[in-house]
Amino acid sequence: MRNKLVEKIVRLKQQHNAVILAHNYQPGEIQDIADFTGDSLGLSIKAAETDADVIVFCGVQFMAETAAILSPEKTVLLPDKSAGCPMADMITAEQLRKLKQEHPNAIVVCYVNSTAEVKAESDYCCTSANAAELVNSLPEDRPVIFVPDQHLGRFVGERTGRDLVLWPGYCITHVMITEDDINTAKAKYPDAIVMAHPECTEPVKELSDELLSTGQMLKFAAESTAKRFIIATETGIIHALKKQNPQAEFIAASERAVCPNMKKITIEKIVWALEDMQYKISVPKAIKEKAKKALDEMVGILPVR
Ligand code: 13P
Ligand code: SF4
Repeated sequence: MRNKLVEKIVRLKQQHNAVILAHNYQPGEIQDIADFTGDSLGLSIKAAETDADVIVFCGVQFMAETAAILSPEKTVLLPDKSAGCPMADMITAEQLRKLKQEHPNAIVVCYVNSTAEVKAESDYCCTSANAAELVNSLPEDRPVIFVPDQHLGRFVGERTGRDLVLWPGYCITHVMITEDDINTAKAKYPDAIVMAHPECTEPVKELSDELLSTGQMLKFAAESTAKRFIIATETGIIHALKKQNPQAEFIAASERAVCPNMKKITIEKIVWALEDMQYKISVPKAIKEKAKKALDEMVGILPVR
């Protein structure tokens, strides 16, 4: 049955000149059939580069929106239209406009985990992989507003030595990983390297050895001689880590760290997406143009100032 569905996907992909992009948090079987897997930055770059006519985005709404903004001539499909990101919805464009009024001289940097409307209100967009680098490149005499993730924001503040204006947003999945989880895992596996995502809480990050985006975790594990890793992020990444490093052991810091929205995508929904060209993700023109400016900086189309 599964094989038949996968064969169908291969046929439909050819028929529509489609590519499948999957985030590192997707279920393992989705990662395995994707043309490209990666972190938010890697997938954004892929979306902009591919000459496919159709992109099936196996991820959440803001990722598909980002692909639609970067590739206006392509059809971008999200196989489950209810796959959103609660963190992205924690700040509205209206709230950001108010914050900008309170800090009129500030440069606004938004995490890619944000709505297109919030991106349109921002000067720069970033991912967890390039946030610190981007903020470091901004003029020192200007305040910086960073939205919506307070935890990534604090990480950026620490790495850059800058006092950022933060918004109290957070990832519902990453905050489930507790200090206790890390202490318990470290006590059980004292030789393991702890890799944590910057979306984790500060006490978790303090107990960790490396703070990395999902793409950076894969790179770090591939280059490391260590044999055991404790992973403090959404558990989907463990599939990719194990596949890439079969000789090493990867332990989830918490089995609770599962993003319910990322897991809404299924093989069946990919078949339906390609059969019925659903669900098309589009962004209104006026928002698209403004959001694209902030995103172009992120994918390196324009040099980061
Ligand atoms: P990265 O893959 O960019 O590290 O993103 C983490 C995330 O939470 C995406 O929703
Ligand atoms: Fe949003 Fe967190 Fe899920 Fe990423 S893992 S999509 S930030 S809720």
